[in-house]
Amino acid sequence: MLYPLPVVMVSVADRAGNSNIITVAWTGTVCTNPPMLYISVRPERYSYGMLRDTGEFVVNLTTKKLAYATDFCGVRSGRDVDKFCCLGLHREPADKVSAPMIAESPVNIECRVRQIQELGSHHMFLADVVAVHVDDKYMDNRNKFHLRKAFPIVYSHGEYYDLNQILGTFGYSIKKKKNESNKEKYNQKK
Ligand SMILES: Cc1cc2nc3c(=O)[nH]c(=O)nc-3n(C[C@H](O)[C@H](O)[C@H](O)COP(=O)(O)O)c2cc1C
Repeated sequence: MLYPLPVVMVSVADRAGNSNIITVAWTGTVCTNPPMLYISVRPERYSYGMLRDTGEFVVNLTTKKLAYATDFCGVRSGRDVDKFCCLGLHREPADKVSAPMIAESPVNIECRVRQIQELGSHHMFLADVVAVHVDDKYMDNRNKFHLRKAFPIVYSHGEYYDLNQILGTFGYSIKKKKNESNKEKYNQKK
């Protein structure tokens, strides 16, 4: 019961050039340097064979606009449908891996598998991040990335949520606020 979770669309391909998308919530960052992440996938998924075959995949971040596609890719199998085609999503060639990127996603993270842990119901693919692509739309003229403008979503206990309220920014708990320091000054004078 570890919620909320990231929810991502993982694109994969086989050596024959067939590609597919699988929705994954069992995923996370595991190391900053070298940059690494994991995805855990059940062996019965159609995508599993492709992952094992090439050892490569792309993590495509999801957004409010892509919520429907995210759910669809998590309830339909590539054995039965071409998910790119059904959803009107476009394949974009990646730089370093054979799996295509989803053009509509704001951030595409190219990954190469380093280790596979056959844990039980899920096998964990521990991977190196070998390239990252960010849609220019979300970069400002000082090269700062604004993910918020893409309306990212999370998955929590069977429900998808957007993130529409900022409660604070990194380190805000220890930052002195202007009026707080005035209050302190006032108290000191008293
Ligand atoms: C929100 C959501 C999260 C999911 N997370 C995972 C996951 O982490 N690992 C997994 O193996 N399947 C997960 N699934 C299920 C697969 O995405 C689903 O079985 C999919 O149809 C498999 O596609 P494929 O057969 O084309 O590979 C998730 C589904 C949803 C809707």
